[in-house]
Amino acid sequence: MKIFKWILGLLGIVVVLLSILAFVAKSKGETKIANHYPSDFDDVVIPTDSLSIVLGKYLAESHGCQKCHGANFSGAMVADAPPFLVNASNLTSGKGGVGSVFSDGDWLRAIRHGVGQDGRGLIVMPSEAYYYFSDVEVGA
Ligand code: HEC
Repeated sequence: MKIFKWILGLLGIVVVLLSILAFVAKSKGETKIANHYPSDFDDVVIPTDSLSIVLGKYLAESHGCQKCHGANFSGAMVADAPPFLVNASNLTSGKGGVGSVFSDGDWLRAIRHGVGQDGRGLIVMPSEAYYYFSDVEVGA
């Protein structure tokens, strides 16, 4: 019988430790999500000539943007496993798209640095893969 008491005591300790761990992880995660980042990163010229547009289209199509943002960039569900629902934004300038409200700086911050318009980190957007775009590439 004494062994049961031991096991129960041990289980109690494990439960308490796990609860503390979960609490710490939750508050650390929340702090990370709420973090605001500086918004004056770089000053890249966004060109509008036809060659740059073609380059931009090529880069967007060859770097997997459509895998998450949808074939026509109008947004798509990336993960649909409640409670984890991840929606990749509509990047077009149509209704609900960020294209109609984003400044040049907003695009740069999001693509290169993974920072949203509100200064918060974009959690799923894989900006680390696009950080090394040159100024010409990211501008395009
Ligand atoms: C692995 C999936 C994935 C890929 C690949 C991806 N994105 Fe994203 N992107 C996201 C998600 C999801 C968001 C929404 C914010 C978040 O949760 O990270 C986002 C947000 C953005 C935003 C900010 C929009 C907003 O609502 O603030 C821009 C701009 C953007 N992506 C552009 C791109 C471009 C350009 C590419 C390709 C070079 C690309 N993304 C590739 C998943 C992806």
